[in-house]
Amino acid sequence: MSAATLTPSQLAIQRRAGVLDTEVRHDPAAFRILTGDRPTGALHVGHYFGSLQNRVRLQDAGVDMLVVIADYQAMTDRIVAPDLADVVIGLVADYLAVGIDPRTSIIFAHSQVAALNQLVLPFLSLVSVAEIGRNPTVKEETIAAGLATITGLMFTYPVHQAADILFCHANLVPVGLDQLPHLEITRTIARRFNSRYSPAEPYFAEPEALLSATPLLLGTDGQKMSKSRSNSIPLRATADETARLLAKATTDSERLISYEPGRRAEVASLLSLTALCRGRSPHDVADEIGDRGAIALKAAAIEAVNEHFAPVRARRRELAADPGYLRAVLADGNERANAIADDTLCAVRERMHQRY
Ligand code: TRP
Repeated sequence: MSAATLTPSQLAIQRRAGVLDTEVRHDPAAFRILTGDRPTGALHVGHYFGSLQNRVRLQDAGVDMLVVIADYQAMTDRIVAPDLADVVIGLVADYLAVGIDPRTSIIFAHSQVAALNQLVLPFLSLVSVAEIGRNPTVKEETIAAGLATITGLMFTYPVHQAADILFCHANLVPVGLDQLPHLEITRTIARRFNSRYSPAEPYFAEPEALLSATPLLLGTDGQKMSKSRSNSIPLRATADETARLLAKATTDSERLISYEPGRRAEVASLLSLTALCRGRSPHDVADEIGDRGAIALKAAAIEAVNEHFAPVRARRRELAADPGYLRAVLADGNERANAIADDTLCAVRERMHQRY
């Protein structure tokens, strides 16, 4: 998204990202990060450059990190499929393959942490139906999913997401623009809880968004790359699958390849992907391809993706061969998340005069 399309408050959050980054480097112990994904499919290269790489960088800088596999949130726009457990374990494999370290970071599924979910009830009492109803992301998702009706879970999931963030007292949430309305509800809930139930000493910190600056990578059909549409390059794809997927990517018929995100979004996206894999600028990649057209561009993208992700994919194959280990990692993360959530719920009950 270009700077021109950002609202003033989004711009302020974007500027703040640079400041936060410096603060994190100077004092990583002052931060706790909560981030996560819905288990709706395999993670793809867009997730990698948009968020996974950043998570690993923050983790390696010494920041405490929790990663939620948002399995209740996945039910907002679809019926739970019988392969959910495979998708969840696949996510764990993706996380570990890219470098999330289960000895320091906590990977958990929010359906397995009862006390986290119980926080949703008091939190619901702190926001009005009208406030939730104004959430633009929920509206967009409802339209995108083609839902005729909105379930109570779809309507209230931003409050559930607030529980994901506040149960562990995260103060930094790395997200894309679409998640900012959820962060705003989370901050409102923290503020209202404090003023209503903990006026002397604020109990919940108001978490901040850490906006990711990476350009949006498009899917092979020219739409937003999404794990639930079949337009993505999954991290786990083989080199051959990657070649097949990128070969059918939408482009245009102009021979001279140029980086013009406004006018040639699909070509620009392939240039960005190639550039990200090679640590170069998309303009450099465009110059190198020159007038050799879309076929040469796709060949460059295929080679760059396959080369860059070869170590991640090798590691992922090893991990996938040991599902028992992946389940043990998740069980351990669930246990650690439960301990944190139990403490928080206990403190919340105490402040809400619910100790009998
Ligand atoms: N809503 C996020 C998504 O759709 C996933 C998510 C769930 C999340 N809980 C979260 C992200 C808490 C950040 C913080 O990708």
